[in-house]
Amino acid sequence: MTDETQATQDGQATQTDSLSVTDNRTGESYDIEITDGTVRAMDLRQIKVSEDDFGLMTYDPGYSNTASCRSAITYIDGEKGILEHRGIPIEQLAEHSTFLEVSFLILYGHLPTEDELSQWIYEITHHTYVHENIKDFMSGFRHDANPMGMLLASVGALSTFYPEAVDVSDSHQRHVSAVRMIAKMPTLAAFAYRRSLGLPYVYPNNDLSYTGNFLSMLFKMAEPQYEPDPRLERALEVLFILHADHEQNCSAAAVRVVGSSLPDPFSAVAAGVAGLYGPLHGGANVAVLKMLKKIGTPDNIPDFLEGVKQGNERLMGFGHRVYKNYDPRARIIRSHVDEVLEATSKESPLLDVAIELEKRALDDEYFTERKLYPNVDYWSGIIYEAMNIPPDAFTVMFAIGRTPGWMAQWLELMNDEEFKIARPRQIYTGPRQTDYVPMSERNGSGS
Ligand code: SDX
Repeated sequence: MTDETQATQDGQATQTDSLSVTDNRTGESYDIEITDGTVRAMDLRQIKVSEDDFGLMTYDPGYSNTASCRSAITYIDGEKGILEHRGIPIEQLAEHSTFLEVSFLILYGHLPTEDELSQWIYEITHHTYVHENIKDFMSGFRHDANPMGMLLASVGALSTFYPEAVDVSDSHQRHVSAVRMIAKMPTLAAFAYRRSLGLPYVYPNNDLSYTGNFLSMLFKMAEPQYEPDPRLERALEVLFILHADHEQNCSAAAVRVVGSSLPDPFSAVAAGVAGLYGPLHGGANVAVLKMLKKIGTPDNIPDFLEGVKQGNERLMGFGHRVYKNYDPRARIIRSHVDEVLEATSKESPLLDVAIELEKRALDDEYFTERKLYPNVDYWSGIIYEAMNIPPDAFTVMFAIGRTPGWMAQWLELMNDEEFKIARPRQIYTGPRQTDYVPMSERNGSGS
């Protein structure tokens, strides 16, 4: 193993080591370069058993051990439960920052100056409206349509209203698309919510903050001006900050894969919305509430946990591909639960179940051995329910928070010096060289 440190153009030292491997099929030995703790998969292609051999590939279902890109946006240490955005710990951002300031940080790599922030807030505030045709579009959905399905479709539809967004080589267009996506996501979400209740749409109110305006578009009724409760406004701000980005999670990876064929960014973000929808990802916050309701009372927890151990249940809101410790975001969200319940003067019977369930799971080596700890989705649903957000819209809340992250990952992809269209390989397991069988000779057994 050689250890040379090479300075790159920007003076950053890159650790360059190497791996010496022997292919026991041929006795050949190879030196494979190790850079930043990785080997390039393409460097394995030289390892062949014959000249016409395609060469060695890596096989990594779910990309559990594959780095797909270089990124400077978010750093996670799963063992230590560390999350940083552009190097700033999530705990500090949740305490001191705002969602739009964190959005700027994630997108552009530094905390904004006062002028940059006021310009950024002005731009976002003045792009919150959507084309009136979106209302006609939304009216085509069934009254009980899932709001994530409506959001998925509406985000994709934005590409038809801003055809100029497809010019992804233009930095101004990339910036305007980021502003439009972050500004319009709450409006689309609120429109979907109001439609599901048969209520008139509430238009954006530029006098309110980003989260205050979202609460107004959700809940304003006949009052002339909606006055958001500052405690709920701040709790929502923190929730959005905590969801802003999370490196190469499933939905961000989907944005990068689709974005790599160079459609407009709205189409790439629609892929992110679709990935987030699933119960193993952003849909987990809905699944947690359903799980807590199914458990019903703390007395039923031992039987439920036994069912998990038998593989009949999944402890939703627990476990993570990267965190093998308590998700730092879960800890922060937990600290806001009591305050929101007080602000909404809500009792939450589910909170008692959630507290006892967490306690028993963390006392049980089945879970601690598998390093299953609460993740960001475990406590958020209790807050959303207290805010009168319907369970089917919990994942929509996650999508609003994650939008700056999706756009930042997309922007980084557009500027990547190693940009390539995503096109994985496969291990082929099907039949070869089979002949077409006329209908008269088919016996239905697939032969
Ligand atoms: C998010 O990637 C991100 O960063 C995502 C996210 C983000 O901000 O973008 O953090 C947001 O999606 C959080 C995760 C929300 N999902 C859930 O809460 C759903 C429940 N959790 C899981 O299904 C699971 O933990 C995953 C999907 C989150 C992670 O799955 P992995 O990494 O593929 O791990 P695995 O399924 O291989 O599990 C390892 C072991 C297995 O046991 P064995 O077969 O080895 O005996 O742990 C078990 C699993 O069966 N396991 C669980 C479990 N999660 C894993 N068993 C019971 N309950 C669980 N929740």
